[in-house]
Amino acid sequence: MEKKILFPQVGGLVHGGDYNPEQWLDRPDILKEDIRLMKKAGINSATLGVFSWSVYEPVEGEFHFEWLEEIINNLYENGIYTVLATPSGARPAWLDKKYPSAMRVDNYGVRDHHGRRHNHCMSSPIYRKKVEIIDSKLAERFANHPGLLMWHISNEFGGECYCPECTKRFRAYLADKFDNDIEKLNKAWWTTFWSHRYNSFDQIEPPFKNGETSVMGLNLEWKRFTTYITTDFMKAEIETLHKFNPSIPTTANLMKMFSGLDYNKLAKEIDVVSWDSYPQFHNDYETLADTFSDNAFDHALMRSLKKDRPFMLMESAPGLVNWHSYNKLKKPGIHRLACIQAVASGSDTVQYFQLRKGRGSYEQFHGAVIDHVGTDDTRVFKEVAEVGELLKKLAPVAGTCMQNQVAILFDWDNRWAIRDTKSLANDTKRYEKVVSDMWKLLNKAGIEADIIPSTADFSDYKVILAPMLFMLQDGTADRLKAFVADGGQLLSTYFTGYIDKDQLCWLGGFPGDGLTDLFGIISEEIDTYYQKDRNHITFNDGKVCEVRDYAEILRIKDADVLATYNEDFYAGTPAVTLKKYGKGNAYYVAARITAEDMMPLFEQMLSNVGIETKELPENIEYHKRTGDEGTYEFYLNFSDKAQVLENVHGTDLVSGAKLEGKAEIQGYNVLVVRV
Ligand code: GLA
Ligand code: ZN
Repeated sequence: MEKKILFPQVGGLVHGGDYNPEQWLDRPDILKEDIRLMKKAGINSATLGVFSWSVYEPVEGEFHFEWLEEIINNLYENGIYTVLATPSGARPAWLDKKYPSAMRVDNYGVRDHHGRRHNHCMSSPIYRKKVEIIDSKLAERFANHPGLLMWHISNEFGGECYCPECTKRFRAYLADKFDNDIEKLNKAWWTTFWSHRYNSFDQIEPPFKNGETSVMGLNLEWKRFTTYITTDFMKAEIETLHKFNPSIPTTANLMKMFSGLDYNKLAKEIDVVSWDSYPQFHNDYETLADTFSDNAFDHALMRSLKKDRPFMLMESAPGLVNWHSYNKLKKPGIHRLACIQAVASGSDTVQYFQLRKGRGSYEQFHGAVIDHVGTDDTRVFKEVAEVGELLKKLAPVAGTCMQNQVAILFDWDNRWAIRDTKSLANDTKRYEKVVSDMWKLLNKAGIEADIIPSTADFSDYKVILAPMLFMLQDGTADRLKAFVADGGQLLSTYFTGYIDKDQLCWLGGFPGDGLTDLFGIISEEIDTYYQKDRNHITFNDGKVCEVRDYAEILRIKDADVLATYNEDFYAGTPAVTLKKYGKGNAYYVAARITAEDMMPLFEQMLSNVGIETKELPENIEYHKRTGDEGTYEFYLNFSDKAQVLENVHGTDLVSGAKLEGKAEIQGYNVLVVRV
């Protein structure tokens, strides 16, 4: 597998973070000191300009980039590259005052006042124009600067706008989607229900809170439209920048499981996926290993958006953050673990928010590499510098990727539909958790799964888990059948295949669109439990598992029964089934049992296709990256005690020691092995 080097000029991994020198232009002494400190911490990249518009263009049409040029030059002369952001994430006051249509309208139809950030209208023609001007000016000056590493488009895209312009764009989007045929839309949305038929596209409004929220198809299309219009806004920015130099790569910093945007669609338009990771370490509701494990899932989700290349950890807190409900310090060693976890998970960067702490305003107490005290002897600075040293040693890892044979299907459309559907119980739907629990459990057995949309190509995989795939997109059922017929191992659960891409129920039995043939069952009813309710199922080998929340009642067509219910009026009826289909196997788990309780099924599926699991000690996380000159194994120790690993063969990339069998890994430490 050939390496995919993102930044050849860096010659290794990127270590950097958001840097806001515009807040310190009256302190040249501090700006000078920053460079010394960055070098001392092994920083080779700074993200500039994320929120600099009011300094770039203090009054309309008057531009000031001299200061930025000086900073970029200085950084470059000192071996520090620039990730340059477009400033569209926050607007200067003059802009909102003169062009109020740039400000977003909420779901009651009320326009925002000027303030905060990430709240512009994505459709506003004048805002788009103003962004085009400032982006052009930036690109004209810097797109060919040798220090420019990449473009960072805006910041953390998100949110919806219900303004008249967005409404207009929404109607045009729908007209396009439904071939200008309002009857097609009426049919797809089942609008005859409650007399909600439309005669023309211009009668359609966004789902205002005090308006139309009862048409599932409308709610769903609005979500899709928000992704479309945001992506369109981002694409316009990219197009502007690329006019000046098309070879500079682009990214947008994403927010892991953020539900507002379909990241699979957005990610197609950028060159590299990056994301902002802020786990709540040392919280009072889970173990440290659990917090890390959640973060590993998030890394995998982000990595899978572009699985043929490394991703970037664009932001993380070197010390504490300031916006959690409790802002706890990271204990010594945890920073290093989190940084290396990102690299282990496929990131070629470790970047922070932020390099220097500001003196005032909203984020004055957010952690930074350089604290208010301003020195290089703080605990946090020293840990960052230690990470800088470590990353240099891990340079050969840059450009390596993963080749996984297991995938979990996860769709934003499906998420939205599950959240919106008036069925089940609102408090216990937990689709995201079901998916992440499966991923985390496999990871504990040394298996790294990709998390892919149901529309992705399945041909790289041997095992696919498709829990709660409530919505079947066009063609998904056929592709799943082909996957299994060809020898694939598939597992689905309750609440699969109820609706089509427009949220219309499938007729002829669930799971629909022909999946009753694949699984050899028909799901006839689904029972929703109160949170205290329990049922149990018994597997053929006698193993009993607890059922919570949901239980489907199945009718068998031609599947083998692997487990049956123990209680309630459906006691004795099938709860887990297996159908051999072509060369493969299709498992169906009709009741909500834990991922741990499904592990024997996963193990069976893996062993059917010759994928080996790994025995790992408790609190050890394992990842693997591969490139043309070898494979790198990562072990992360989430306990404060040293642990001994078995069967480790290769070279310790940090110490250079040869490892043949046993290897010790210190508390809160990492081991990276070149196999
Ligand atoms: C987000 C933003 C940053 C900063 C950090 C603070 O990720 O992108 O600008 O506000 O949060 O944690
Ligand atoms: Zn708008």
